[in-house]
Amino acid sequence: MSKKSQEELKEKIQKLKEERKAVILAHNYQRKEIQDIADFVEDSLGLSIQASKTDAKVIVFCGVHFMAETASILSPEKTILLPDPQAGCPMADMIDVKTLAEYRQKYPEAEVLCYVNSTAEIKAMSDVCCTSANALKIAQKMKAREIIFIPDKSLGEYVESQMEGSGKKFHLYPGYCPTHHRLLAEDIIKAKKANPDAVVMVHPECTAEVRALADFILGTGGMSKTAGENGRTKFIVGTEEGMLYRLKKENPEKTFILPSEKLICPNMKLNTLEKVYWALKEMAHVVKVAEEVRSKAYKAIKAMLELS
Ligand code: 13P
Ligand code: SF4
Repeated sequence: MSKKSQEELKEKIQKLKEERKAVILAHNYQRKEIQDIADFVEDSLGLSIQASKTDAKVIVFCGVHFMAETASILSPEKTILLPDPQAGCPMADMIDVKTLAEYRQKYPEAEVLCYVNSTAEIKAMSDVCCTSANALKIAQKMKAREIIFIPDKSLGEYVESQMEGSGKKFHLYPGYCPTHHRLLAEDIIKAKKANPDAVVMVHPECTAEVRALADFILGTGGMSKTAGENGRTKFIVGTEEGMLYRLKKENPEKTFILPSEKLICPNMKLNTLEKVYWALKEMAHVVKVAEEVRSKAYKAIKAMLELS
């Protein structure tokens, strides 16, 4: 698309957004042109908070399906639109209701700590949710001595490693993020060799081998904060490539290096400017969680927001 037509499309989106009394929320991994038109560009926790407090009648959620569901759980009276209905999260689909019920039966004393990258049905069966930003804090605050952590094994391992000696026992579910697991230890080693003065920040969804090479293990909100506050000027960033656009925008004088070209989440990239326009024009695709599931899932998300 030419720059001129892109600008025209952005104007049309702006106009429709006002007519519909809509707000555009975008995750840090969205395409740069979507980040540019969004009212808020944040991590999963930040977007949940925005969804819970906005006065807008319509939320255009530029992210993946579980994020739009979370907005629907928090704001059932609002219309939640996902520009591309195919934008799912493979990690969220790695655990189903039957398997979680079996885990619960196997560990009857345990409470379920559920990463928000999960379906509404799974959240409804959980005690408390977490995001990458607050997983450790919430696990530390949980009263239960046994925790079933679902569905991301990497984030669960990270939390468990930070709580060694706490006396808490973890049961980790073997889900993972295919995008973050494509980042290899050798990619970090190579990037470090070429940039020995760089700080290494990686997402907790990365493998244990990659996390072991990092200076900081952070969710995307933490990466933005650290890049701004840290005195160093070069950063190797082990997460989805969309994050680098936000980091560069916020810190134009600093350098951000993507250690692997494979760090692209195909689902996050399904949303485009055209689809955002059509979402507002057609008021589609609506994501609405059934009330029976919503009220149970709400308890787990509310528990997270209270403990955050
Ligand atoms: P953040 O909450 O850190 O933005 O992570 C969301 C996500 O989907 C990571 O893959
Ligand atoms: Fe899911 Fe990974 Fe994409 Fe995040 S980056 S939405 S966890 S597949």
